[in-house]
Amino acid sequence: METIHKRIDILFNSDAQTHEKLQKVCQLLHDEIPHYNWVGFYFTNGDKKELKLGPYVGAATDHVIIPFGKGICGQVAVSNETFVVPDVSAQDNYLSCSIETKSEIVVPIFKNGENIGQIDIDSHIINPFTERDEELLKSICEKVSEII
Ligand code: SME
Repeated sequence: METIHKRIDILFNSDAQTHEKLQKVCQLLHDEIPHYNWVGFYFTNGDKKELKLGPYVGAATDHVIIPFGKGICGQVAVSNETFVVPDVSAQDNYLSCSIETKSEIVVPIFKNGENIGQIDIDSHIINPFTERDEELLKSICEKVSEII
């Protein structure tokens, strides 16, 4: 994790455009953390009460637009809280991207106190997420907030 934090810092401090930075963050997390099988960003879609898919790495998803309140992502758009789902099969309000996905974590991104989006991680393993994941993802969300 220590090395990943450093590599994330270098990436955010680079001259790349915002979209490219976010894409590289997804790639780095996906490649370096074995239990991260899908990594992506969703952002609030203008004035609409919905999320729109941003940069991501992993299988293509049907869920490019997610209404607020729907699925894990849509619930985080409303609750403003990190949502850790150790076992997606136990969730009623869940949007499946892939039958391989067993668990998920979604961490909101705040800009000037407003919930503007989130980072979403899917895993093929049941219950893999710890406080270390939450800490890493929260620090990434704070850095995203600074460049967006
Ligand atoms: N599973 C999410 C939908 C997004 S995909 O994981 C890429 C949800 O329930 O909101």
